[in-house]
Formats: sequence, structure tokens, C-alpha cells
Amino acid sequence: MKTVIVQGSSRKYGNTNKIVNYLQEKLDCDFIDLKGYSFSGYDYEGRNRNDDFLPLMREIVEYDLIIFATPVYWYAMSGLMKNFFDRITDCLKIEKETGRKLRGKSMAMVCCGSDKEAVLAIQNEFEMPFRASATYLGMSYQGSIFTWIEKDEISEEIKTNMDNFTKKIID
Ligand SMILES: Cc1cc2nc3c(=O)[nH]c(=O)nc-3n(C[C@H](O)[C@H](O)[C@H](O)COP(=O)(O)O)c2cc1C
Repeated sequence: MKTVIVQGSSRKYGNTNKIVNYLQEKLDCDFIDLKGYSFSGYDYEGRNRNDDFLPLMREIVEYDLIIFATPVYWYAMSGLMKNFFDRITDCLKIEKETGRKLRGKSMAMVCCGSDKEAVLAIQNEFEMPFRASATYLGMSYQGSIFTWIEKDEISEEIKTNMDNFTKKIID
């Protein structure tokens, strides 16, 4: 299964990236950092259609499983990731053939918050935009992992969660 992790953090090498590195090694998959691309928020008139979004999306739709990795910023996905999701609208309006390629593909989500208590308190609400977007786009939602970093390290508890998650995805 061709898999990619799409990271949407304001820090290239921050906490989310620590989680992403662990997952990427486990899954032996590709990695895309949204921070390396230049695209703006959704525009009703499509005036930004020539920025990096559509070429990037053409690459992403070739994967079977897309895992979105985002930090928790103000109880929600990062602004960068939200801009990316808003721009998927371009694939329903401007470049429909790219949007159609998402049908039948799989989506999963991993997020990284500040600590266990904060992260576990928001699980259902946080996951909803990913789960609902997958359904809307005709994708199969494979689930989520909620993580945090303790003293700059990934705890054994989270490693076990990620190991179980990757096993479930691979099987
Ligand atoms: C703007 C901002 C908002 C944040 N809001 C939350 C929050 O609502 N809940 C939470 O658990 N952590 C919150 N945090 C903490 C981050 O989620 C946490 O430090 C995360 O591991 C950062 O990942 P990063 O290094 O990839 O940015 C926030 C951090 C920032 C910078």
C-alpha cells in the first residue's frame, strides 16, 4: 500500500515531527511537509490556482493511504493543515479529476498536543473534521492516534499506541 504522511506543523522539526519520524520508520512510507510549500487559503474566485496547492495535491492523490499529522493548536488542527483542507475545495471545483482520485483511498490522522489530559479531553471533536471529510470525499477513515511529547521524548505508552495503529493499518 502506497502511504504518505502529510505534516502540517508550524515547526518543521518540532514535536509533531518527532511523532512523524517514528511512524514513518514503522510504516516505511513517504513524507510531505506542508511547510515546504507555498499555498494560501481558499479563494472563491480561484485566484490562487497557480500556487503550490494543485501540483502538490496531484502528488498526494496517487497514494492509497494519506496520514495527516498535525499539532493541536487551540483545540483544533493547525492553521496550515486547515488551509490545506479548505483548498481541497479546489479539487471539487477547479480540478475535479484530481478530487475524484481520492475516492476509495484511505485516510488516517495523528495529532500531537501538549499532554495526555489535554489531548484525551478533545478526541472526538478533534477527529470529526478528518472523519467527516473522509466520508465526504468518498475515502475510508482508518482512525487516529492522539499523542504528546514528554521531556522531548515519545513515551512508551505512545510508542505502543503507534505500534498497534501501524499493525492495524498494515494488516
Ligand atoms: C498556537 C498554539 C496553540 C496550542 N494550543 C493547544 C491546545 O489547544 N491544546 C493542546 O493540548 N496543546 C496546545 N498547544 C501545544 C502544542 O499542541 C504542543 O506543544 C505540540 O506538541 C506542538 O507541536 P509542534 O512542535 O509540531 O508545533 C498549542 C501550541 C501552540 C503553539
